[in-house]
Amino acid sequence: MTRAVVLARHPEGAVVEQDFDVIEMPVGDCPAGYFRTRNRVISLDAGFRQWMTAGAGDNYLTGMQVGDPVQSIVLGEVIESHHPDYPVGSFVSARTAWEESSVLDGSDLCSALIVDGEIPLHQYMGILGPTGMTAWVGLHEIGRPKPGETVVVSAAGGAVGTVVGQLAKSEGCRVIGLTSTREKAQWLEAEVGYDRVIDRETQPHLANALSAAAPEGIDIFFDNVGGNALNIAMGQLREQARLVLCGAISQYESAVEPLTNSWELITKRARMEGFMFSDYVESFPAIAEDIRARLARGEVKSFDAVYHGIEQTPRAFCDMMHGISRGKCLVTLD
Ligand SMILES: NC(=O)c1ccc[n+]([C@@H]2O[C@H](COP(=O)([O-])OP(=O)(O)OC[C@H]3O[C@@H](n4cnc5c(N)ncnc54)[C@H](OP(=O)(O)O)[C@@H]3O)[C@@H](O)[C@H]2O)c1
Repeated sequence: MTRAVVLARHPEGAVVEQDFDVIEMPVGDCPAGYFRTRNRVISLDAGFRQWMTAGAGDNYLTGMQVGDPVQSIVLGEVIESHHPDYPVGSFVSARTAWEESSVLDGSDLCSALIVDGEIPLHQYMGILGPTGMTAWVGLHEIGRPKPGETVVVSAAGGAVGTVVGQLAKSEGCRVIGLTSTREKAQWLEAEVGYDRVIDRETQPHLANALSAAAPEGIDIFFDNVGGNALNIAMGQLREQARLVLCGAISQYESAVEPLTNSWELITKRARMEGFMFSDYVESFPAIAEDIRARLARGEVKSFDAVYHGIEQTPRAFCDMMHGISRGKCLVTLD
């Protein structure tokens, strides 16, 4: 038998632990062309909340069904193999599910991982994995920062936000974060290296706080949040600004808010562009190498909230969604 977390019901509004069940299930067959993993690290990714809602599903992924293991990106160690590319003892990263063991065929964002024993395994799901790739691609490929520019990052205290802030800082930018609480803001300034952080707790009027923090306007808005925060940022751009649409977490659990400041993009000659990190798979080895070198130089750090055991996965996911965890939220299964 093995254990998995299934969707007990479709979340309505804020996701809660009761939306999930931990179940035991029989170990499935592993036929020719497939391999079996013992899963070691589960990545908790906000984007998957989108596909938990009843009737969800789009051009990127189908919606999750009640009773099915919850989709996620997972790091696994191959323990049985009938696939030439994934021998026993190797490590893989794949989009599979919150489960202790998976049977895979090498498709669906599956790639072999060369693991360095000096690096904590969970970092391959965080700063050296999908999170780091997302931050790097969004900032460098879409945002294209230049020294001296002002970069504003929403959900600054989360997985992607902590990496983007550090990367932008190392490019010589002035980096401003948006977050939930004053405590998190202080941590982001003191530990992560943000120049200034605006929190919703003590500075609820974002437009005023942002114009005070960036009086010359914003060059790059790296947006993880969407809705009202994005709309306000759209109204405070410098000429030739770039808006990097990475995520829209404020809209995943509530009604979609309208964007009314699009005229500003025209007069400021701004560019607004969305992206999916998975479109840049071929660049991942080079990006991972760049981030590894920055980690070794001490230019960036990995900030992780690590939970232990499959039964902690629902709590970890809810904590991540609602700003309780800091940095990258992960579950280890050792
Ligand atoms: N485009 C891509 O390829 C791609 C890939 C990965 C992730 N993403 C997106 O990137 C974003 C961050 O994902 P992540 O996995 O790294 O999650 P995360 O940032 O670690 O966690 C989500 C954070 O969002 C903030 N938040 C939650 N509700 C909010 C609200 N109503 N308004 C403002 N902020 C809110 C909270 O941080 P605070 O306490 O700091 O507010 C929370 O901790 C998500 O939107 C996700 O969909 C996109």
